Amino acid sequence: MKRKYQLILIFKMITLISAFAIMVSLFAFYSIKEKKQSEQFVCGVVDERPICGNAIRQMKISLIINKTGQRLFQDSCRACHSIHDVVVGPALKDVVKRRPKKWLYKFINNSSAVIKSGDPYAVELFNKFGKAEMKNFNFTKAEIDSILDYIKVESDY
Ligand code: HEC
Repeated sequence: MKRKYQLILIFKMITLISAFAIMVSLFAFYSIKEKKQSEQFVCGVVDERPICGNAIRQMKISLIINKTGQRLFQDSCRACHSIHDVVVGPALKDVVKRRPKKWLYKFINNSSAVIKSGDPYAVELFNKFGKAEMKNFNFTKAEIDSILDYIKVESDY
């Protein structure tokens, strides 16, 4: 008789624990689902105007983008480069992660000197892009920093 009660007790405990586990997983499932949905489509109010989804993303980008870098990029680089696509030169997405800063300062102002110095990465890129030469520039470090900052933000979005 005692054994029977013990078994019933164990059975009840198992049922309780499973019910609890199911509740916890359901809760986790729904909260993850909801979070995903809110990431996909957000609404908010900017300048007293309600805006949704992509518009918010654009607003965010315009707030954090480096305006000087954007202007310099458009004036001097856009003819040959885009961030996400190959144009005359390579897509510049994540170039800041790909190359060291010191190299970028040298290469952007005087790519032909870097290629002539025999730098293996530069030579390989030069050959890959049909020996097309980049113009020489005379930017200050601060100007190059702005351009790289602009490229970095555009790469992330
Ligand atoms: C006349 C076309 C042209 C212009 C203008 C130009 N580039 Fe380039 N760029 C190239 C080409 C072509 C390459 C590939 C290497 C080579 O052939 O010299 C390149 C390569 C690069 C690279 C190396 C990319 C990598 O994947 O490692 C960087 C960084 C770069 N350019 C930045 C710039 C910046 C910043 C500007 C504007 C200030 C600029 N370029 C303007 C044509 C151009």
